[in-house]
Amino acid sequence: MQSLTLLSRENKIYIVTAVERWGTPTFSVSPRLFETKHIALSCPFRTISNNEATDKQKRSRWMENRPKKCKYGDSPFIHKNLSVMNHLHLGFVGTGRIARALIAGLSQREHTTFVGFDKEPIALASISADYPVQPCLSIEEVALGAQVIILAVKPYQMEEVLGELKPSLTANHLLISVAAGISSEFIRKNSRESTRVIRVMPNTPAFVGEGMTALCRGKMAADADVLLASELFSSIGQVTLLDELQMDAATALSGSGPAYMFHILDSLAEGGVQCGLSRDEALILGAQTMIGAATMVLSGKKSPEELKHEVTTPGGTTEAGLKVMDEKNIRQILIETVAAAAARSRELMK
Ligand SMILES: NC(=O)c1ccc[n+]([C@@H]2O[C@H](COP(=O)([O-])OP(=O)(O)OC[C@H]3O[C@@H](n4cnc5c(N)ncnc54)[C@H](OP(=O)(O)O)[C@@H]3O)[C@@H](O)[C@H]2O)c1
Repeated sequence: MQSLTLLSRENKIYIVTAVERWGTPTFSVSPRLFETKHIALSCPFRTISNNEATDKQKRSRWMENRPKKCKYGDSPFIHKNLSVMNHLHLGFVGTGRIARALIAGLSQREHTTFVGFDKEPIALASISADYPVQPCLSIEEVALGAQVIILAVKPYQMEEVLGELKPSLTANHLLISVAAGISSEFIRKNSRESTRVIRVMPNTPAFVGEGMTALCRGKMAADADVLLASELFSSIGQVTLLDELQMDAATALSGSGPAYMFHILDSLAEGGVQCGLSRDEALILGAQTMIGAATMVLSGKKSPEELKHEVTTPGGTTEAGLKVMDEKNIRQILIETVAAAAARSRELMK
């Protein structure tokens, strides 16, 4: 049994304990990690190389000298034989838009091979041409070639996919679903009863590495599965661990959120155009302002309300603009927007 101490961005310490049982590595993580919303994914785990790992002397030397603590942004090493992130065989069922974003982010990952299947041959050929993804002829072939299978098909296609996948599933497989509105229990019940499932909800900024992924664990998933899925999705942005009951809210806020932001941005830019800017100038000014404001909030030092007050001088320009927002009750409109999307997500839930 070996332990590694991690220091999260909130300066809380968590202990990751790795145990090797009959050649199978398992992880347990001190409960603190799961109390925090932001899992310590900013400490990307990295395995040591195959050569290092097979050399017993180097291995024990490394274990003696391994970092006991890592700060946010550092990369602690986890011993090869104790790491679930040893050479990873990742499979994709569905190689459309979200799979492409994920593969683009993950393709730099060390010790990872990719296989994929898509019933649309053009989508599969395109992904194999652009990334090191070995194309498969069937879902069964994906199951044979991968230990972690990412289900990246449309929600209504999931039942059919699981029906095809089920006969090939073994106890070693981990399923990660990106499908909106499909519960982890639906996936487990349509697979083997003991299937480990992680459900995630990414969003489209994943295409530029700025995604926000909400992640929840299925009934049979282990701590190690949560860590692995968090690490994988951190390649396309940030990851937050949620309870599955919160997934409709996450779908409504961050999943659908980019569309709200585009709509707001487009409207603000139109305001800029009507006041004398060109369309391009207005979009740059508006988009960068959105990035800057979001970055200030994410720095965590002040609430949006405090930041708003700081930028608002009595009798000034910002106050004149905010007055219109308040009169039209933009706040209530946005609250209702999220509520409507969450209600729709609940309706779609299987
Ligand atoms: N795109 C996003 O921003 C986003 C964000 C969050 C979550 N998601 C979720 O991600 C999932 C995929 O979305 P997407 O936008 O990537 O969809 P997509 O571009 O349509 O990709 C899905 C691919 O899977 C293929 N497929 C369908 N049935 C299959 C089967 N039985 N075996 C193998 N491949 C099959 C589809 O082929 P056909 O076209 O022939 O059906 C399509 O090429 C959805 O469940 C969605 O809820 C997407």
